[in-house]
Amino acid sequence: MRARRTCLAVPGSNPRFLEKAQTLAADEVFLDLEDSVAPAVKEEARANVVAALREGDWTGKTVAVRVNDATTRWSYRDVIEVVEAAGDRLHCVMLPKVSDPSHVVWLDTLLGQVERAAGLPVGRIGIEAQIEDATGLVNAERIAAASPRLETLVFGPADFMASIGMRTLVVGEQPPGYEEGDAYHYVLMRILTAARAHGLQAIDGPYLQIRDVEGFRRAARRAAALGFDGKWVLHPSQIEAGNEVFSPSQDDYDHAELILEAYEYYTTVERRGAAMLGDEMIDEASRKMALVVAAKGRAAGL
Ligand code: GLV
Ligand code: MG
Repeated sequence: MRARRTCLAVPGSNPRFLEKAQTLAADEVFLDLEDSVAPAVKEEARANVVAALREGDWTGKTVAVRVNDATTRWSYRDVIEVVEAAGDRLHCVMLPKVSDPSHVVWLDTLLGQVERAAGLPVGRIGIEAQIEDATGLVNAERIAAASPRLETLVFGPADFMASIGMRTLVVGEQPPGYEEGDAYHYVLMRILTAARAHGLQAIDGPYLQIRDVEGFRRAARRAAALGFDGKWVLHPSQIEAGNEVFSPSQDDYDHAELILEAYEYYTTVERRGAAMLGDEMIDEASRKMALVVAAKGRAAGL
């Protein structure tokens, strides 16, 4: 699994941001051709993205390009031009506004065609699918099963809130009038469950109030607590917070390693399935929970 605690959105129309993104500590960078790029400069943005992929230094990062959605007039050329010219530099293509599995199947087929024509290994480029409307959410399980290239389901809260008519303008915060509950819980859990049922990562979308780092942290903690692997970041100030929130704390990591060690001892040396670790009973299910935290901690270098 690739690291995706923080997924940095970079508008393909802005060469200065494309340059700067290479120096930032986000796990993933995605070069955007969709909603952060105005229709008038879509073509120009493609050329910028190809140049940035070819000439930039993206060492150590997961690199994706977000193309326009499958119903637009831009998307097929986005895929063809970017993958032909720089497919060897790309880990994934992100497909926005996926409302039906056929969108993913379309991208899978087109990627295969371009990979063959360009002499690239067939099937290496992955797909990240954004779930951004009610239809996409209802179809999330089928979307998650639509292609072996799929690596992640990604929640798109801004488009999603607009699509269902949620009465708010602040993405990532509770809608006014619903402060007691969590308006995102159902959506996040549905996406997470669909993703996990098919062995995919689940990524939370953007928090748009970029000066409110505490607000970002709050939204990120909510997704991380449920089990999400990471979240979009739109600004350098969100990166450090995101990497921290999506890594286990040192205490949790140490605790997880201790459970694994103790469980190994009890099952092999003492041949017991359940045992006490201090005041805590541990068994095979505890081992599995500890493995999740330990794996995230090891990946974060704890
Ligand atoms: C992201 O694409 C969103 O719509 O939130
Ligand atoms: Mg969107």
